[in-house]
This record gives sequence, structure tokens and C-alpha cells, in this order.
Amino acid sequence: MSNFNQTIKRRCTNSVKWDAVENVYGLQDASDILPMWVADMDFAAPAAVSKALQEHAEKTVFGYSFVSDEAVQAIVDWQNAHHDWHIDKESIVFCNGVVAALADSIKAFTNPGDKVLISPPVYPPFYNIPKSNGREIVSCPLVEKDGTFIYDFEAFEQALAQNVKAYILCNPHNPGGYVWDEATLKEIVRLCAKYDVVIISDEIHSDLMLDGSKHTPLAKIAGDEIDRIITCMAPTKTFNLAGIQVAYMIVPDKEKRMLLEAVHMASGQGSVNTFASVALQAAYTGGSPWLNDMLTYISNNMDYVIAELGQLPGIHINKPQGTYLLWIDYRELGLDEKEIMQRLLENGKLALEPGSKYGEEGCGFLRMNVACSFDTVKDGVQRFKQALEQ
Ligand SMILES: Cc1ncc(COP(=O)(O)O)c(C=O)c1O
Repeated sequence: MSNFNQTIKRRCTNSVKWDAVENVYGLQDASDILPMWVADMDFAAPAAVSKALQEHAEKTVFGYSFVSDEAVQAIVDWQNAHHDWHIDKESIVFCNGVVAALADSIKAFTNPGDKVLISPPVYPPFYNIPKSNGREIVSCPLVEKDGTFIYDFEAFEQALAQNVKAYILCNPHNPGGYVWDEATLKEIVRLCAKYDVVIISDEIHSDLMLDGSKHTPLAKIAGDEIDRIITCMAPTKTFNLAGIQVAYMIVPDKEKRMLLEAVHMASGQGSVNTFASVALQAAYTGGSPWLNDMLTYISNNMDYVIAELGQLPGIHINKPQGTYLLWIDYRELGLDEKEIMQRLLENGKLALEPGSKYGEEGCGFLRMNVACSFDTVKDGVQRFKQALEQ
């Protein structure tokens, strides 16, 4: 049984979350700042993963390796068991991360100057990757309804009609934690098919379902349009293995797989790290009990934060359906982003993510990562309150 209550010391471990705060937030000294920002967890990974990695390390020879058949089968079985999605082994293309998968897909399926559609507020690489590869971003923001963000399909169709070549979908959604329903996903597929647009579906958060929510892989409901979809998945967000850097794309269309392989060849990318495939296999074959317990723990953390902070004047928080990230609406406080960030960092000694990182539509929101021990969450809540009090 994992002990999620344990507070593991992560400072001075080259952790981005704990040791890069000075750089990211422009501080002289961040030793007293509590980091609840970037999306990794403060929990120990499943014991099954640590054990497999230790056993692999004991082999002492780490020459070139390929991903084992067992690891590939573990992916097929995981998708089957967790998302009732039946995929072919042949459709799997490995890569070093989901962001790398987004970059590979942009390079493989669009040309410099092409238009790529995104729906902000959304994970920042959705802008940065196409832009830094010389593609033009077309932005069709999600719209707010009853405190959540949804698609405006009229605007979405108008955007697609501007000769867009690819759409990057965040399913489930980061930062909002929305788990898109089948009707929404079907409409996305229908419209993208109408304008012959490739869909790159980032599903890295798909295993992080809270309180009985159910993830729907886009490709599973796409019917005849399945070949236009590239699904990007990984065990890294699910099992807190981000530093291991392993991900995979599910690409049913053979021609698209060949294009991706050509991109890999052109950039000298080979197979994934030998430890990465060991971790992936161990997580997918032995990590389920850990995941179930972890999700219950996260859900309780969220309930606590919402009960404590959601009642503060000017603060609104809806419980997300997925992920371990809270999207905190502070617009009624009347503070601009600079002011609230200053208060949080200087008075509260708390590092949250400013919503504008996810596009201008994220202004007025903060993203808080609650994948940490309950004691840390309580500390974070206290710091948040202190920041607003002063
Ligand atoms: C939507 C989304 N995609 C991708 C990533 C990162 O993926 P990777 O670490 O595999 O590059 C994240 C991390 O937070 C994310 O939220």
C-alpha cells in the first residue's frame, strides 16, 4: 500500500518543480517557497516501477536496446482495460515525450507556413511547438458557460475553414481538467473531417479520472475518420515518471506512421531509453492499484482545497473531472495577474502557475497542483489565505 501522506524531500534533487523556482519566477532565493506549479507529483512512483528499474540497473550493461514485445503488449492491454480501446501493436510509434510527439506530428503532417488550430486556454507547447517550427497559429478559444469552458462549434468551424491543416486537441483538458464527452469529440471529428484537417490528440491526462469520470479516446469514437487521428499518450503523467521521458503515439494510418518515421530518421531519433521501456512496462502491468489509491487521495485533496479556498470572497473553484490540477478563478478579486502573483510569492511564499501562461483566455485564473501529501496541501491553503489577507 503506497503512503501518499509521506512528505518526500525533493529540494536539491535537480527537480524542476522544487529547484527551478528561482529561475522560473525570477526570485533571488526560493528556499522558503512552496511549489505547487508544474505538473508532476510529489508522490513516490509505484513500488513495481522502482523495483523493475532497480533490477534493470543491476544488469550493469546498458547497451543499445529496443522496446520489448512485453512492453508493447502492456500498452495494448492497458488501453483495452482502462479505456476499452482496442489498438493494434503496429499502430504504436514510440517517442521521448508527448511534447516531442506533438513536435514530430507537426513536422510530419504540416509544412512551414501552414495553419495549426488550437483552443486556448491550453497547455503552452500547443502554441510554442507549431510556432517554433514556423507554422501559423489559428486560435479558437473555448468559451465560458456556467463556470466551465466549452467549445463554440460555430467559431470552431469558421476557424477550420481558414485552410487549417492540423488541430491539436487536449483530451482531457489541461488546465481546466475537463473530460470531453462523446458528443463533443464526435463534433470535433466531424468538423475536422469536413475540412480535411489532421487531429493531434494529446491524451496524456487520460488515466487521471476523478470520481467515476470516464475518458473517451478520440480515435475510439472516430469511426471512418480514424486515420486522420494521431493519439499521444504516456505513462509518465499517470505514474509520476516525467523525468523518465517516454511516450507513444497511436497512429492507425500506415502512411502517417511512415511520415513520422521519416521525421525520426531526419532528426536522428532512435528507440527510447532502455530504462524508459522498463518503467513503462512495469507501470502498465503493476501500477493499477497505486493509480486507484492515488486518484482517491487527489480527489480528497481537491475537496479540501475547494472547501477552504472556494469560500473566500472573490474565489471560485470547480472540481475538475480529471487531472490533479485546480483551475482557480480569482477574477472577482479585482487583482491583476502581476499583483496576485506578487502577493502569492512574497506574502504567501507559494508558487502557483499564472493563468496567462495558457493564453490570454487564462488571465484571472491560477493553476494549483494538488498531487502532494495532505500536509503539503494544508500548508498551501494556509499560504494562499495569507497571501490574500495581507
Ligand atoms: C497536455 C500535456 N501534454 C504534454 C505534457 C508533457 O508531456 P511530456 O512530459 O511527455 O513531454 C503535459 C505536461 O504537463 C501536458 O499537460
